[in-house]
Amino acid sequence: MSRIVYVNGEYLPEEEAKISVFDRGFLFADGVYEVTSVLQGRLVDNAGHLSRLHRSLSELEMDAPASDAGIEAIQNTLIERNGVQEGLVYLQVTRGAADRDFAYPEGVKPSLVMFTQVKNLLQSPQAERGISVITTRDIRWKRRDIKTVGLLAPSMAKMIAKRAGADDAWLVEYGQVTEGSSNNAYIVTRNGTLVTRQLGNEILAGITRKAVLELARTSDLKIEERAFTVQEATDAAEAFITSATTFVMPVVSIDGQPVGDGRPGPVTRRLRELYIRTALQEIGD
Ligand code: PDD
Repeated sequence: MSRIVYVNGEYLPEEEAKISVFDRGFLFADGVYEVTSVLQGRLVDNAGHLSRLHRSLSELEMDAPASDAGIEAIQNTLIERNGVQEGLVYLQVTRGAADRDFAYPEGVKPSLVMFTQVKNLLQSPQAERGISVITTRDIRWKRRDIKTVGLLAPSMAKMIAKRAGADDAWLVEYGQVTEGSSNNAYIVTRNGTLVTRQLGNEILAGITRKAVLELARTSDLKIEERAFTVQEATDAAEAFITSATTFVMPVVSIDGQPVGDGRPGPVTRRLRELYIRTALQEIGD
């Protein structure tokens, strides 16, 4: 049975869903997106994702395609119609279809597309044993705080990782790690301090990052929001990434060198457990 997807007001089998060849998402990557995870058929931290969606839209002078309640109703309908228990809902807003012109067209209706993907988020072999990353140059544009659909640079980074036999790439600029190809990057130093890059135009303000830093704070962990070098990362006691699709995921090797003893560390495991427990509590309320 095919998936039901949402396109501009309609719920359709995926084979029947269509977008114009003049859609600016297609021609200019002129669009933004959000990925919200689903646990037990419920959206996790969706308010955070919708709030970041508004920020991305306003940075690009785009109108919201629907109210938050309207968007969330569509997300929930897709979850229900596709019977998703665990996985994600992808949501994309593009500026809409107009004759090709670099300047933004006026009076164009934004396109709204959404679909679901089933994925094991709670039980995953990668979460058990940890992932390997390689480092590669961050060649992305200078507004990584806007979650645009222009994802070729991270795709290239993932391919470099894949060809090197690694699970993912950490992106490096001026000798410092910015973030992972599609996630935020963290280390735990040998004296137990949690370090992750400060927010700014250089990285995406992860919704999972925000939740995990709050949990770390309430667990009395020492936190430093600052850039760290690759050397610091390979010397660290632990490393991990966060995103809506990985939650807290241990990183056990960087550029072929084991992090700590090469196994998921205690701080990482604790934060993963706490994040999942809190997410389940919140959707249960
Ligand atoms: N990626 N940094 C980048 C560059 C990202 O693409 C993402 C998310 C994150 C983490 O953000 P959040 O915690 O809000 O998911 C950080 C999504 C999952 C994706 O592109 O599939």
